[in-house]
Amino acid sequence: MTPSTAPAAERTVSFSVNGRAVTLRLPVRKTLADVLREDLHLTGTHLGCEHGVCGACTILMDEEPVRSCLLLGVQADRHALRTVEGLANGETLHPLQAAFRDAHGLQCGYCTPGFLMTAVAFLRENPNPTEEEIRIGIAGNLCRCTGYIGIIEAIQLAARRMRGDDPGAPDAASPDGAPVG
Ligand code: FES
Ligand code: FES
Repeated sequence: MTPSTAPAAERTVSFSVNGRAVTLRLPVRKTLADVLREDLHLTGTHLGCEHGVCGACTILMDEEPVRSCLLLGVQADRHALRTVEGLANGETLHPLQAAFRDAHGLQCGYCTPGFLMTAVAFLRENPNPTEEEIRIGIAGNLCRCTGYIGIIEAIQLAARRMRGDDPGAPDAASPDGAPVG
């Protein structure tokens, strides 16, 4: 019998999500967004366009923002992922989450997880951004209802709080925005 040269339809992968180690057997063609939502029940990662345009599915892979609709689940093998569920520390919001609430940075909230994950990485690289730099930093995320003024003001507020230049919300997490979990 001739050995099959067909690629395996499934593969076992191991990675971490929000500090939790997971091992899954995955269809090789399943997207990372679907793995997060369907296999790991992390439904805070939203799907909008499903082809890399809207940014709703943004998560962090090794602390860099990626579009989980454009990656396969098997590409997460041996990487560390962080989703919006990994931002808060229990009941204590991440400073960006608190700032989006306080500065009216959301309405329906569908785009919000993607904006938050983009902004986490952005403020880590640029903790004292200008408005123009924020606009460029979030240019790959689309919001259909809030408009961008509230989102920009939320990121500015979070940046001030994380730098210690603003007293902050009483329930805001530690200002370093460190990974939780
Ligand atoms: Fe991934 Fe729109 S759902 S970029
Ligand atoms: Fe509704 Fe952005 S708040 S899509």
